[in-house]
Amino acid sequence: MRKNIVAGNWKMNTTVPEGVALAKEVNEALKAEKANCDVIVCVPFTHLCSVAAAIDSSVLGLGAENCADHKSGAYTGEVSAPMVASTGAKYVILGHSERRQYYGETSETLREKVALALENGLSPIFCIGEVLEERENGTFNDVVKTQIVEGLFNLNAEDFGKIILAYEPVWAIGTGKTATAEQAEDMHAFIRNVIAEKYGNEVADNTSILYGGSCKPSNAAELFAKPNVDGGLIGGAALKCADFMGIVKAF
Ligand code: 13P
Repeated sequence: MRKNIVAGNWKMNTTVPEGVALAKEVNEALKAEKANCDVIVCVPFTHLCSVAAAIDSSVLGLGAENCADHKSGAYTGEVSAPMVASTGAKYVILGHSERRQYYGETSETLREKVALALENGLSPIFCIGEVLEERENGTFNDVVKTQIVEGLFNLNAEDFGKIILAYEPVWAIGTGKTATAEQAEDMHAFIRNVIAEKYGNEVADNTSILYGGSCKPSNAAELFAKPNVDGGLIGGAALKCADFMGIVKAF
């Protein structure tokens, strides 16, 4: 059965001491009150080692927000999948819309990143989602399907089984404008159908599909109650322990 997951994406926020303090606070809160879902924090590269040392990996999972599309070598400033894995992280966000929009990530580079993440034992949290114009002109299903087909459908079924998907409509990210629970459910059901057509019902049923975009304690329960919404990828609300835990408790 697929897992329910709440994952934080801290983006480019917090210094190392601030991040360690936040991770510890979340870790303690989860020890005090056991979650009914897997909980993960995805943190800046600089934070990975310190956060790994500060948390209990059986309580709180750790991920990076990106990794390089090469294994090693002369790529100044890049951080490879083996480097991320060597910190103790088990997850890596790939293809976030901010990476696609501001850093020109394409399906081609993402295929390399996914392959390297998997080779190094990292589970990719692979992000997909349409921009506002595509929502409004009705092409959103096609856009999301293309992102999945181009980015992931080169994988065999076993490797695809290690992918966590995150549907993040770009118009809902950081805007306070959440997709309605019905919009999220419709898209998640569509995504699961796209997966079933390629890999069969069992793989599709076992794939966790998270929703991301202005998810907060006040709307998480309604979103997570939908049958095809298996949790959330949380930006702003992951930066305050109480808000993040409020979302975790929606399960
Ligand atoms: P917000 O929750 O801040 O809208 O961000 C969502 C997101 O981009 C998570 O990856």
